[in-house]
Amino acid sequence: MRRVAVVAVTVFLSAAMAAPALARPEKRFDRGSSTMRELTFGNLRDGYKIFREACKGCHHRGNDQGAKFLYTESKSMRAWNRVFYERYPACAKSGAWQSLSGDDLLKLNDYLFVNAVDAVDVNCYL
Ligand code: HEC
Repeated sequence: MRRVAVVAVTVFLSAAMAAPALARPEKRFDRGSSTMRELTFGNLRDGYKIFREACKGCHHRGNDQGAKFLYTESKSMRAWNRVFYERYPACAKSGAWQSLSGDDLLKLNDYLFVNAVDAVDVNCYL
């Protein structure tokens, strides 16, 4: 019985060590400002707060604003970049983003990008 446990643990550990480390992007090219953004902890934490305060008020499940439920994995990295580069959403056009500074929007884009549905284990930056 003990031997089975030891073998099981050994197999598990070697599988875990052989698996490639899951990596998230560390940088994001921002087309709007033509800059390469370092995805720092501070900026991502700020982006998380901005998303909760400026977006989730409408985009939460079961809202009565007619807004779709949105979370970071609703879109790919490329698609989130397009949201902010083109500012095509109806809410951006109707002024719901107006209270946000340019810097806020960059941090928000950083946060959504790094947690996008396809953001794990990539080797290229969009
Ligand atoms: C006052 C309510 C409100 C706020 C605040 C708001 N939105 Fe929206 N948003 C809407 C509505 C209504 C639509 C149009 C219906 C839809 O597609 O969800 C929309 C559409 C969108 C879409 C298009 C949906 C899609 O699938 O592409 C995106 C993306 C989006 N919003 C992102 C955001 C982000 C990011 C923020 C925060 C900066 C935000 N919204 C804040 C109401 C809001």
